[in-house]
Amino acid sequence: MTTTPDFPQPGILFRDLTGLMADGPALRQVTDALLSRMPADIDAVVGVEARGFLFAAAAAHSRGIGVYPIRKAGKLPGPLLSETYDLEYGTATIQLQPDSLAPGSRVYVLDDLLATGGTLAAAVRLLERAGYVVVGLGVAIELTGLGGREAVAGYPVHALIELP
Ligand code: PRP
Ligand code: ADE
Repeated sequence: MTTTPDFPQPGILFRDLTGLMADGPALRQVTDALLSRMPADIDAVVGVEARGFLFAAAAAHSRGIGVYPIRKAGKLPGPLLSETYDLEYGTATIQLQPDSLAPGSRVYVLDDLLATGGTLAAAVRLLERAGYVVVGLGVAIELTGLGGREAVAGYPVHALIELP
């Protein structure tokens, strides 16, 4: 992992997993660690655009279940559900296509990083509005100083590495 000061805005310490993902053994180790925390009885792994897609696809492939994408606004055809949220560096809108996964499905959400929790909280709102059961949330890195866990209080959060 690399840490870049003042990206994408002044004052942000950007934690970047690009190098880890490009390293086969490291990607397998992190994916296996995320999988070890993922419950057995789930129907699909949800990946949050963009970096969450990578771990979610690898984990879903390993379990032999589907991957269900939550995308940034404007990428998916409708009908859609949308949620807007605040990030450490701005605001964003994410969307989900509820017709692609059966209502009542049990889902586990993966992303690379938990910061303010805005993204995962919005993902949970979307998934529950669509009628899915969110059984847990997994990330490779948790930035513990930003209150992310409180934003998704009541849901199991599995983080492999905690950074201040
Ligand atoms: C990053 C990261 C998480 C989110 C975490 O994504 O991949 O999804 O921020 O921040 P939060 O806990 O404060 O919501 P970003 O929105 O930068 O998009 P990207 O994955 O497309 O780069
Ligand atoms: N998403 C939100 N905050 C971040 C940070 N500091 N580094 C990488 N991704 C982020």
